[in-house]
Amino acid sequence: MYNHPYRPQFHFSPKEKWMNDPNGLVYYDGEYHLFYQYHPESTVWGPMHWGHAVSPDLIHWEELPVALYPDELGMIFSGCAVVDRDNTSGLKEGEEDVLVAFYTQHEENNEKQSLAYSHDRGRTWIKYDQNPVIANPGMKDFRDPKVFWSQENAKWIMCLAAGDEIQFYESSNLINWEYLSSFGNDFGAHGGVWECPDLFQLKVDGTDTKKWVLIVSINPGGPNGGSATQYFVGEFDGKAFHPDEGPAHIRWADGGKDFYAAVSWSNTEVERKIWIGWMSNWQYANEVPTDPWRSAMSLPRELGLKMTESGWCLTQKVVKEFDNIKEEKLNAYENVVVKDEQPFVFPSKDELFELKLKPKNIDPDTKEWGIVLRKGEKTETCVTYSRVNRQWSVDRRRSGAIDFSEHFPSLDAAGATRQHTDHHVQLILDACSLELFAGDGELMMTELLFPFDEDFTMQVYSVGGEVAFEEVKLTRLKSIWN
Ligand code: FRU
Repeated sequence: MYNHPYRPQFHFSPKEKWMNDPNGLVYYDGEYHLFYQYHPESTVWGPMHWGHAVSPDLIHWEELPVALYPDELGMIFSGCAVVDRDNTSGLKEGEEDVLVAFYTQHEENNEKQSLAYSHDRGRTWIKYDQNPVIANPGMKDFRDPKVFWSQENAKWIMCLAAGDEIQFYESSNLINWEYLSSFGNDFGAHGGVWECPDLFQLKVDGTDTKKWVLIVSINPGGPNGGSATQYFVGEFDGKAFHPDEGPAHIRWADGGKDFYAAVSWSNTEVERKIWIGWMSNWQYANEVPTDPWRSAMSLPRELGLKMTESGWCLTQKVVKEFDNIKEEKLNAYENVVVKDEQPFVFPSKDELFELKLKPKNIDPDTKEWGIVLRKGEKTETCVTYSRVNRQWSVDRRRSGAIDFSEHFPSLDAAGATRQHTDHHVQLILDACSLELFAGDGELMMTELLFPFDEDFTMQVYSVGGEVAFEEVKLTRLKSIWN
């Protein structure tokens, strides 16, 4: 069932049909829930439902029946879910804590927020009989509620995307909501509509200080065209968000083209903030060459926050549970040295692997070094670190199937936060995706790739000077579907 060409083997994709944003991410009683925008009738976007999958470890997923169907108030757009442990809503019945989901109901020019609740660990949902809980205030784009419990204020807080701003609301019972404030106007990128906000606290690396991070997806207007996820770091005083950095700072969570609508799980362990993104881009999501399904999620990533030479940096590391699918057999090459015309070449027929590179000596004349992945007769993808521009880039202009959309063949670059980013890089390759983690999770690039079926090699190379690697390590990965 999961062996079609390009079928992701360790990223979640639905058995069949169309999927977009992750929704309703909540951990409860040993299960991570992943709901998602789903069109059960087609492999292109249409009347949205919430599809549903659960996992014990964020890596192995079991797909469950569709959780929410459109109704007379409209389609079921993106949203979130929380555990109402203290039954503030009064919706609890029976033993289990009540799970409460918030979602946008979409009708042409009328988006409003509704809720549904579950008494049986998310298996079935009852729509609240007085939906919507927040009516449309006369705006076209008014969606994607994300709710959390604010300990300091003893209130629930909701963030909502409204045009190209984020609105905040508060509630003591999850049902009656009161408007607090808006954030946006001069801050961040505004090349498109703001969508799928999230707001949470993270501990600053190496300190006991906590900061608030506001996540905002934007479409279009991303740095490489189309959709992308931006973030702001600052304070939330219970009523309003105040960014630390001035309006000129635009920070992107991922420098690739295919990481969108990322939001975090609620109710996970304190000190552990995990999120997941939709691994596509609205520029071509409806056209990617896969069948009978369309779209996959990124790997779940644990978030951190660092102060760097160039200011705040949201760091991401693949969750530790990823180790569950590593094969024991690995190829570790020590003392690899590369220079002009002398790359290090090794076969890589397997599609599923993690590659870790750790340079130890970089000749100062080196202009760039990198990896050519899936190099065949007609196909190659270049991942490059330019020491001149201090940038990582992914060139997928010859990566295989590219002509399904003029926006797909791209050369995407992302600025490294510091020279130190030379130090190590992790590449994770599934059947149709590449995730690159550079530095200490300081830079991410997520890109879809649809290579032709060939015999591939992989090449580590440098230009201008010699690069010696402490380690070049290739680990095979197991499919989660077998
Ligand atoms: C983001 C988005 C959301 C919306 C959903 C509709 O990708 O546009 O704003 O709720 O997708 O499917």
